[in-house]
Amino acid sequence: MFVVSAEKFSLWKKKQISKGGDNNSLNLLIDSLAGLSKKELNLLKIKSEKNLNLNLNLDLLETFWDKHIDTFIPIEYLSGISFWRNLKLEVSNRVLIPRPETELIIEIISGIFKNREEKITFVDLGTGSGAISIALALANPNWNGIATDIDKNAIEIASRNFANNSNHTNLKFYNGNWWDPLANFKGEIDLAVANPPYIPQDTYELLPIEVKNFEPKKALLGGKEGLDHINEIVQDAPKYLKKEGWLFIENHFDQGDRVKQLFLKNKFTSVKVLKDFSGIGRFTIGRYK
Ligand SMILES: C[S@@+](CC[C@H](N)C(=O)[O-])C[C@H]1O[C@@H](n2cnc3c(N)ncnc32)[C@H](O)[C@@H]1O
Repeated sequence: MFVVSAEKFSLWKKKQISKGGDNNSLNLLIDSLAGLSKKELNLLKIKSEKNLNLNLNLDLLETFWDKHIDTFIPIEYLSGISFWRNLKLEVSNRVLIPRPETELIIEIISGIFKNREEKITFVDLGTGSGAISIALALANPNWNGIATDIDKNAIEIASRNFANNSNHTNLKFYNGNWWDPLANFKGEIDLAVANPPYIPQDTYELLPIEVKNFEPKKALLGGKEGLDHINEIVQDAPKYLKKEGWLFIENHFDQGDRVKQLFLKNKFTSVKVLKDFSGIGRFTIGRYK
């Protein structure tokens, strides 16, 4: 533990920001590595006579900040930690940093399943760090979940994240292409959710450096139009979903109408495109007959 006065710490913060970067990223670094949350940082402004206990000394913290500014590497990959909803997740450059806009999918699912008492089987396709599947498994200990990913490292990270965030055993992890690991669950899935790679090729080329140079291409690129993976997932869903089973897909901001048509073509009903917090048609949902 390193003790530093609030005054010295505030000066240190000002110096870091004067070098570049933004306040949110600096706060995230301080929270992830020094163990000082945004709430504590805000309190500091009021009680400036206080001493602070940090998990890391300021010089070392500064080297991380300098690396972030020099290379644009995301803070989450530097610290190995991402905060998502109420979860603290391990991340590395083998997994996408879970995005705030994805958080809403958990509320949408909870709203639709709120009156269903029975045990359900759900699947999270392309689980990455495990964010969606772990949030669902924690919120619904009587549900059984399966999370899949094409990347073995992602599956290892997601399994560790589940073990570190839960005492339950209601989530299993499998490595493989989309539905392939679910050969034994044909016709048994009540709910499938996926946030697949959906960035179109030309948009991918223009992504900011901090995304394009560091986050896995495999997690982002969805082919020429961005719809290659969504197509595959929707087309194969009828083999795995129960009658009236639900499919929830996150899509790019302008793909909602096309994904809706894809659902309808594959005999889904109750198909809707739901908006995210920014008013963008981000989630396409439907039931299989
Ligand atoms: C956009 S990321 C989403 C990660 C996580 N679900 C989230 O919301 O943060 C897409 C994920 O799909 C995985 N993926 C890509 N192609 C896949 C495939 N063919 N089969 C299964 N998973 C795949 C990637 O490895 C990545 O983890």
